[in-house]
Amino acid sequence: MLDLTRIPEAVRSEGGVSRRLFLAYGTALAALSSLAERVAAADKKVTFAADPFSLGIASGDPDATGVVLWTKLAPKPLDPDGGMKPDPVPVAWEVAEDDAMKKVVARGTAGATPQLGHTVHVEVTGLKPDRWYFYRFTAGDAQSPVGRTRTLPAADAAPDKLKFAFASCQHYEQGLYTAYEQMAKDDLDLVFHLGDYIYEYAPADKRVRKHTGPARNKITTLADYRERYAQYRADPLLHGMHAKCPWFVTWDDHEFDNNYAGGVQEIQPKGVAKADPVEFLERRAAAYQAYYEMMPLRKRSLPTGPDMLLYRKAAFGRLAEFFVLDTRQYRTPQPNGDGIKPLVGEAIKPTNSLLGRRQRGWLDAGLITSAGTWNILAQQVMMGMVDYTAAGRNGFSMDQWPGAAHERMALVRFLADRKVPNPVVLTGDIHSNWVNDLRVDDRKADAPVVATEFVGTSIFSGGNGVDQPKGLDDLLAANPCVRFHNRERGYVRCTVTPENRTSDYVVCEDVTKSGGKVLTRGSFVVEAGRPGAKKA
Ligand SMILES: [Fe+2]
Repeated sequence: MLDLTRIPEAVRSEGGVSRRLFLAYGTALAALSSLAERVAAADKKVTFAADPFSLGIASGDPDATGVVLWTKLAPKPLDPDGGMKPDPVPVAWEVAEDDAMKKVVARGTAGATPQLGHTVHVEVTGLKPDRWYFYRFTAGDAQSPVGRTRTLPAADAAPDKLKFAFASCQHYEQGLYTAYEQMAKDDLDLVFHLGDYIYEYAPADKRVRKHTGPARNKITTLADYRERYAQYRADPLLHGMHAKCPWFVTWDDHEFDNNYAGGVQEIQPKGVAKADPVEFLERRAAAYQAYYEMMPLRKRSLPTGPDMLLYRKAAFGRLAEFFVLDTRQYRTPQPNGDGIKPLVGEAIKPTNSLLGRRQRGWLDAGLITSAGTWNILAQQVMMGMVDYTAAGRNGFSMDQWPGAAHERMALVRFLADRKVPNPVVLTGDIHSNWVNDLRVDDRKADAPVVATEFVGTSIFSGGNGVDQPKGLDDLLAANPCVRFHNRERGYVRCTVTPENRTSDYVVCEDVTKSGGKVLTRGSFVVEAGRPGAKKA
C-alpha cells in the first residue's frame, strides 16, 4: 500500500518538485547575492504613488549586539505586486540612540527585491548589549515612522528583570487587535508570537471583518499568502505593536494549512481526496516564503524550497534562555485519526514526534549547556496531558503533545534527569488559557512536578469566549495537572526575575468592537527552584 507519509521525503530528493523549486529559489538567492550592484544601479529617485510603508516596520531576533530590522515596500498593499514595479529598490536604514534620530550609531542601504516581495531584512551588528535603540527606513521620497527596538543583555550579564508577552492565533475575520493596543502600553522588552499569525481560510460572511483572496477556497499560491499577510499587517494596531519592541516569531499550522504534519495534509472528510503530495509541498514552499518575507527573521531562516529553519534559541543574559520551537515542519502525522482520542495504540508509538530527530538533539544539547536561571520553551501545542473525557469528549488531543506521548514524556524526563533549571513551556494553538503543572506522566498526580506550562489564548480567533466554560469543575477535578483554565481572548504578560516568574492572563471582554475593555483575569507565579504554578 502507498504510504503517503513517505512521499514528501521521496519527491524532495528524486527531482520533480525539488528541481522546479530549486530553480525558483535559486533565482531568489542569486538575486540576493548580486543585490549590491543591482541596487546601486537602481534609480535612487524612486517615487511612490502612496505611502510605501503602509505595512509598517518591525524588528526581531535580537541578540546581544544586533537585531533584524524589517519593512516591506507596498504602496498598494493588496495589489499582487504591492503596487511596486518589478525592480529592486534601495532602502536606507538608520539606527539611533534617540527617538529623534539625532544620535545615529549605524546606517546602511539594503535592497528590496521583487523576488522577496520588496521586503527588507537588515541584520544590524555592532550595537551595545542591553540597550534600547530607534530605527527608520527611507526609500526614494518616503520615510517610515520611527520604531523602537533593543538588544539583549550580554551572555554573562545578570539582569534583574525581563518583561515580555506571548500571543497566538489571530483569525482576521473573527475580531479586532484590541489586545495589541493594550500590549503596546505594557512597556515590554520582547514579544513572542507562537503561531497562527494568519489563517488560510476563504472569506466568510457575517464576520467582524472579511478576508480578501480566493472566494471559496483556501489560499494556496505565493501571491495569495502575500496578500493575506498584507491584509493582516495593514492594521495599525498589529504593525504598531511590531514597532514597539523586537518579536521572536514561530509558526503553527494556519500559516500554511490546518493541522498539517510535515509534508502531510490533514485527514480529509470522507469522499474528499488528499492534495497531491508534490503540489502540497509546492504550496508549503509558497507559504513558508511568504512567512519569511513578512517576519523580522535572520537570513539563516531564508527558505530552501519547502524547507525553512525556524527553531532557534536566545539568551537574555543569564536570567533566561529561550528555545523557540517548530512543532509542525518535522512532525509525524497525528495518530489515531487525529481529533480527541484515547491515549492508546498509535498514540503511544515511540516513533511519533513533534520535533523530529535533529531539532530534538539540538534542544537537548541546548538545555544541558544553558546558563539560564529560567529555561523557556516557546512553542505551539499543549504539553499538558489533558484528558477531555470529563468534558464529554473521548480522550486526549492527538494534534498536541499527547499525540507524541512517548517523545513528550521523554522530554519531561530529560528535564528532570538533567536537572535543567526552572523549565517553563509557553504554548498557543487552542484559543484558551491554561496553567498546567507538567509531570513525566500528567496522569500520575502523585509524581513530582518537573515544569510549568502557560498556555495563552488567541488574540481573537474563535470570537468572544467565556471566563468559566461549562463543565470546568469536572474538567479540573479529572485533571489535577490543570491549575487554571479560561476561554476568553487576549495574551499573556510575563515578568521574569531571578527569584520568580509571573504570568498575567490579560483578556479583552469584547474583541468584536473597538475599544473592548481589557483586564487581567488571573496571575500565576512560579518560584525559582520550585516547579509548579501558584495563584499570585
Ligand atoms: Fe489558532
